[in-house]
Amino acid sequence: MKRILVTGGAGFIGANFVKFLLKEETDVFIVNYDAMTYAGNLESISDVLTDDRHVFVHGDIRDSVKIDETIKSHRLEAIINFAAESHVDRSIEGPEAFIDTNVNGTLKLLISSQKIGLKRFLQVSTDEVYGSLLPDEEAFREDTQIKPNSPYSASKAAADHLVRAYHHTFGLDSITTRCSNNYGPYQFPEKMIPLCINNAFNNKKIPVYGDGMQIRDWLYVEDHCRAIWLAFKNGKTGETYNIGGGNQMTNIELVKIILKECGKDESLIDFVKDRPGHDRRYAIDFSKIKRELAWSPLCNFDAGIRKTVKWYCENRKWLDNLTSGEYKKYYEKMYSGR
Ligand SMILES: NC(=O)c1ccc[n+]([C@@H]2O[C@H](COP(=O)([O-])OP(=O)(O)OC[C@H]3O[C@@H](n4cnc5c(N)ncnc54)[C@H](O)[C@@H]3O)[C@@H](O)[C@H]2O)c1
Repeated sequence: MKRILVTGGAGFIGANFVKFLLKEETDVFIVNYDAMTYAGNLESISDVLTDDRHVFVHGDIRDSVKIDETIKSHRLEAIINFAAESHVDRSIEGPEAFIDTNVNGTLKLLISSQKIGLKRFLQVSTDEVYGSLLPDEEAFREDTQIKPNSPYSASKAAADHLVRAYHHTFGLDSITTRCSNNYGPYQFPEKMIPLCINNAFNNKKIPVYGDGMQIRDWLYVEDHCRAIWLAFKNGKTGETYNIGGGNQMTNIELVKIILKECGKDESLIDFVKDRPGHDRRYAIDFSKIKRELAWSPLCNFDAGIRKTVKWYCENRKWLDNLTSGEYKKYYEKMYSGR
């Protein structure tokens, strides 16, 4: 199972995954299928575009004809689905795109997988499908009831249910992974860590939602990629695996750590109106993947955040290209008057 359709491989985690896999496996063949939304960036994969084990196809996961054609013409055996609309704030502004891509797009991929008889389908999902935890509640386990709170997490939960249904009804070999918040190179700067780093570099205020006491668990992206690959290779069909970093902290703690790493002081912090329905706390129990697939995070948070700040510092052009133009308008709209 080394001929794989990776969807969304020009986005943050997908791009890191493609590079990880090309480094990890010599005899792998990847078709990187991406619609190039605002979040897709060919610059993020420019170093692997000439690798003959990696082919980029500009395509939408909602386009069944193109998916079928791509799978057949490249004799692909499996799908790893990263493609998604992924930003909670955008899902509040415009949920339709999230249902279109995350639900209908995933369904199209499942239909093709079943029809063509692919050997495995891995759905890259999120801990956000479980909803929010109270301070004394136990961390999410794979059998925790799903209670998504945002249009984004609801769309991801719906996709997870479809994957489960395709396994149960049609016997499709499937795996679902649910990971906590990722950070690392190539993340679009609307997301908290690169946004914070970029604003710190430019001495711009850093918007912190509400009281900043929301708790998140952070995982370095390469650790996530390794977990996905292990789950893909060795996971049991029909199973879900939680993936986490064991690094829970409040948003305000995180912002202070980043400011320190960037050599800036806390006067840049700007508390803004909270996101509607903002989940208060996520914590993930990843003992199953640890026990069954021998996976643990390798990168501790201090080392990971240092590497990440250094990467954005050394790749200012990558950041500047994204933070001008359309994104600049979006950013101003999102944070003006908050
Ligand atoms: N970022 C995180 O912290 C995190 C954590 C857990 C799970 N996830 C999941 O991991 C996956 C990747 O997340 P990310 O942060 O890399 O997202 P991202 O927004 O950076 O990248 C998404 C990619 O999907 C592509 N895409 C969007 N719609 C498409 C469509 N209709 N057809 C084909 N391609 C399309 C985009 O062009 C982009 O390249 C998502 O499924 C997300 O839900 C993310």
